[in-house]
Amino acid sequence: MMKNILVTGGAGYIGSHTTLQLLLGGFKVVVVDNLDNSSELAIQRVKELAAEFSSNLSIVKVDLRDKLAVEKLFSWTKFDAVIHFAGLKAVGESVQKPLLYYNNNIIGTVNLLEVMSLHGCKRLVFSSSATVYGWPKEVPCTEEFPLSAANPYGRTKLFIEEICRDVQRSDAEWKIILLRYFNPVGAHPSGHIGEDPRGIPNNLMPFMQQVAVGRRPHLTVYGTDYNTKDGTGVRDYIHVVDLADGHIAALNKLFKANLACEVYNLGTGKGTTVLEMVAAFEKASGKKIPIVMAERRPGDAEIVYASTEKAERELNWRAKYGIDEMCRDQWNWASKNPYGYGSPDNKDD
Ligand code: NAD
Ligand code: UD1
Repeated sequence: MMKNILVTGGAGYIGSHTTLQLLLGGFKVVVVDNLDNSSELAIQRVKELAAEFSSNLSIVKVDLRDKLAVEKLFSWTKFDAVIHFAGLKAVGESVQKPLLYYNNNIIGTVNLLEVMSLHGCKRLVFSSSATVYGWPKEVPCTEEFPLSAANPYGRTKLFIEEICRDVQRSDAEWKIILLRYFNPVGAHPSGHIGEDPRGIPNNLMPFMQQVAVGRRPHLTVYGTDYNTKDGTGVRDYIHVVDLADGHIAALNKLFKANLACEVYNLGTGKGTTVLEMVAAFEKASGKKIPIVMAERRPGDAEIVYASTEKAERELNWRAKYGIDEMCRDQWNWASKNPYGYGSPDNKDD
């Protein structure tokens, strides 16, 4: 029997790539998304890429805070598991609008867990983040490191992790996997789906891609006095298709193993500086990226990269792609879709 997976936030950046890998892997998928930070076009493109598997995908436009609508969805369809991506993710905005973040991320998740429980669907994969390691005292970060949060966005991840642990402790039928993503970048190698942030991008790669296509004059490099090989911050960039495959590995574990609530890092285990990433992107795109050196960005850690041992050992998964492939695929997406899924006219930048 085909397994039926509910993917919340499946029209978004990581959700769309994971939905495609699920379809190609023989799963049925229902995407639930309010399309607040995504486009239905992403789902159409996923269908095109999924070819003969496309009939196994449907999308429902629902906000997870609308519990009645979520309830309806579960009463129509039996799901074998849920992958929960839906949430707001802009750190700066979360500082300005903390209640929006607590409302959307926490209430959305609590509604989802309540409805899942009511309908006896007790297998969950949740999108957490390396942000829960704060400024790590050492690297690589292992899953046992102490947790902290520097902003409301990060706190929603911490709280939801704790909520999941509590729910599982209260009812042993639950099987939950918390995935802590490091820095997802790149796009599907076809160049048909990728990241399309609204407004001014906060993250390095989407910003750099907009410089490369001429939408922004230069990249600001935040911090040149870190204790790293070239003074700029170090991160663990991971190709979004590798990340998507990590979710399939997590699902397989949920279906096969006897587990309670487990946490896994999804990263490559390799650290790359901002300037190394700029050089790799320039090589991949053949474009010069003008840079302006600036002060450190408040809240940024110096060096963050993952220990990948636990995921390799227990999920039988490891990232395949390096930064050259990440930059190649990011550029392929950017050059084919300089305005993402929208046209230049309806972009708010
Ligand atoms: P994204 O914004 O592209 O996707 C999130 C999707 O969720 C969007 O399509 C949005 O419309 C939808 N959504 C938001 N709130 C909703 C609600 N209340 N009801 C229904 N749909 C809702 O973000 P992404 O980069 O794909 O991230 C997916 C998840 O992974 C998020 O939870 C994010 O916090 C987490 N994460 C992302 C990164 C990253 O760098 N992209 C890193 C670590 C963790
Ligand atoms: C950021 C968030 C983190 C979130 C993650 C994914 C902060 C403090 N952290 O992580 O909580 O989980 O995004 O959404 O916002 N950089 C530049 N110039 C830029 C942008 C970034 O130099 O225009 C540098 C940063 O200083 C950092 C590196 O590039 O050293 C990566 O930054 P970014 O892509 O924003 O990711 P994180 O800061 O790791």
